[in-house]
Order: sequence, then C-alpha cells, then structure tokens
Amino acid sequence: MSNMKFSEYMTEWLYGNDGYYATYKNIGKEGDFYTAVSTSKFFGGSIAKHIISLVDEGFLAENGVVCEIGAHHGYFLADVIEFIYTLRPKLLSTLQFAIVERFDALQEFQRNYFNESFGDVVSLTHYKSLSELKCENAFFIANEIFDAFPCELYYKGKTARVDGHNIEFDQENEWVKSKAEKYSKDRGEIAVGYEEFAKEMSLTCKKFEFMSFDYGEMMARPDFSIRVYEKHKVIPLFDEEIKRDELFGKSDITYDVTFQHVKDAYEEAGVDFVELKAQMVALVDMGILDLLEMLKDNADEKIYKQELEKAKMLIMPNFLGERFKMIRFRKN
Ligand SMILES: C[S@@+](CC[C@H](N)C(=O)[O-])C[C@H]1O[C@@H](n2cnc3c(N)ncnc32)[C@H](O)[C@@H]1O
Repeated sequence: MSNMKFSEYMTEWLYGNDGYYATYKNIGKEGDFYTAVSTSKFFGGSIAKHIISLVDEGFLAENGVVCEIGAHHGYFLADVIEFIYTLRPKLLSTLQFAIVERFDALQEFQRNYFNESFGDVVSLTHYKSLSELKCENAFFIANEIFDAFPCELYYKGKTARVDGHNIEFDQENEWVKSKAEKYSKDRGEIAVGYEEFAKEMSLTCKKFEFMSFDYGEMMARPDFSIRVYEKHKVIPLFDEEIKRDELFGKSDITYDVTFQHVKDAYEEAGVDFVELKAQMVALVDMGILDLLEMLKDNADEKIYKQELEKAKMLIMPNFLGERFKMIRFRKN
C-alpha cells in the first residue's frame, strides 16, 4: 500500500481479492448498502414498463437483449422480469436477458436466484465485461455503478498519492488536472474509467439505449464528497477520526457522480445523450403511478398500502427521488 495512485487504492478497496465487492455481501437492512433496488419492486416495474414501450415504439426488437450491469444480487433485473411477465408475458420468451458481472460468486448467486424465481422460463447469460457482449440491439440498465468507479483525488493543482493509508496531495497529473479544470473543480474526485466503459458499450451493438441511476449532479459541487459507509454511518474520507486501515475493503466507499463527465465520455464514444432528470420524475414519466393504480385495483388494501409506502421512498422529494438522477443515452 505504499506510493500508489488513489484510483489504485480504491480499486483494491472495492475490487481486490479481499475487497468490498469481491467478498459476498448482503444488501438491505442487515447489509451495508441499501439502494433504490432494495427499496421497492416498483423500481424494476417502471423499467419493465419502459422496456415494453421501447418494443412498441420499434426501438427494441422483441428478441433484443435486456442487460443489467453491476447487478450485485440480481434483484433489480428479476423485478423487471416479474413485471414484464405481468404486463406482456409473451415477451419473456423472446427477449434475451443478460448480466455483466465480473465476480464468479455473484454470478452464481444470480443464477441460483433466477433458477428459483423463474425455473427455465427465462434465459440468462452472464458476461464478465461489456467487451464480451456482441449483439444487434439492446437495452442496458444500471443502478449506482458510476459512483463505484475508482477515482483520483485532486486539490488545487495536485493529485493525491496514497502511502500506507495516508493521502498526500503532491503529484502532477495532467489528465486529472485537465478534467478538474473542465468540470470547474479546484478540489474533488475525478472518476477513472468512464471513457473506456462508454467505448466498450458503444461497440456491443448497432442500436441500444442505456439508462442509469446514480447520486450526483450534472456538475457536482467543487468539494470532496468521497465517503465511507460503515454500518449505515457515513464517514467522510477526510474525517479527522477516520481509521482507513480498519475500514479498507470492509465498507463501501463512494462519491457524488459528475454526470457531465459521464455525458462527455458517452458523446466521445459516439453515443447520443438523451436526458438527465431526477429519479422521481423519471419513474413517474415511465409510469410508476399507473403500476400502483393497477395494484390498487387487483390486490387487497393491506398489500397495496405496504407497497405504496415503499414506492413513495423512490419518488418522494427531499429523499431518494430528488437526489438521485436518471441519465439516458441512445445509439441508433
Ligand atoms: C453500489 S453497487 C450497486 C449494486 C446494484 N446495482 C444495486 O443497485 O443494488 C455497484 C456495482 O457496480 C459494479 N460495477 C462497478 N464498476 C463496474 C464496471 N465497470 N462494470 C461492471 N460492473 C461494475 C460493482 O461490482 C457493484 O456490483
């Protein structure tokens, strides 16, 4: 752990052999991170409704690929499939479902979960990276992946280096500096890997849509947002009391996404930016309220009320719904 770039340190922290994501984790109340995916099935439901509208619009073929990236347990894609089954069952036998997941243990968990949930009704293909996937037409979905890319840290012209678990700002790095200037940050995080990821996606197929949800802003504020989640407590990485050596690899580390950087990476890869909007607006536009209305008409009141409470967390102002954003791209 001596003299490495911060991005290398973060890569080891999250993806090393003993890293946070490489070792099996529970999501949810008992686990360490709690995302919109674990909040309500109606998140996946809204995506299902959107996929059906893409098929009706003629953008996605009935035998197109529906692929989740960074699926962790696979619950999100499974929710999407469950709602496609409810809304347009015949698409289940024509669409091809896929997950990009680099960890074998998680692939196995996802396979078992899909087998238990759908038997052999649904075909699921795994890829370790986007570069392995080649197809004609696809819809890609991701939740909270851009905040899980490693980053460099920048402070007034200098880039960070990690020695032991100490962070020193004493490196010259022209790439980081140029990005920091471009995104008007005199301090903050510069993500590493967006450009390559966008390029890989653009090479998968001729025509696709990509939709992703993350916490951040078009231009994230010029400050450090990098933080560690330990037992539902948020600890800023530069907190005076922080014990980085103890938290390393055991807790989630993340930062606010600068969506302008994501947008630039996709545009450089020849993919068109469609929109950026608050998650609550995106889910309402895709029809989450119609789905809740359907549940009201078809389920008993107790179930409806329970599901409504959970779904509200996704679309409530001042909570997940406003601070999370949806970004959407198309290649045509
Ligand atoms: C915060 S978790 C989100 C998990 C899940 N999508 C959810 O919402 O609960 C971030 C996920 O993104 C994955 N990830 C990060 N960078 C990735 C990349 N370049 N390609 C594929 N997956 C990636 C991680 O392995 C991890 O599973």
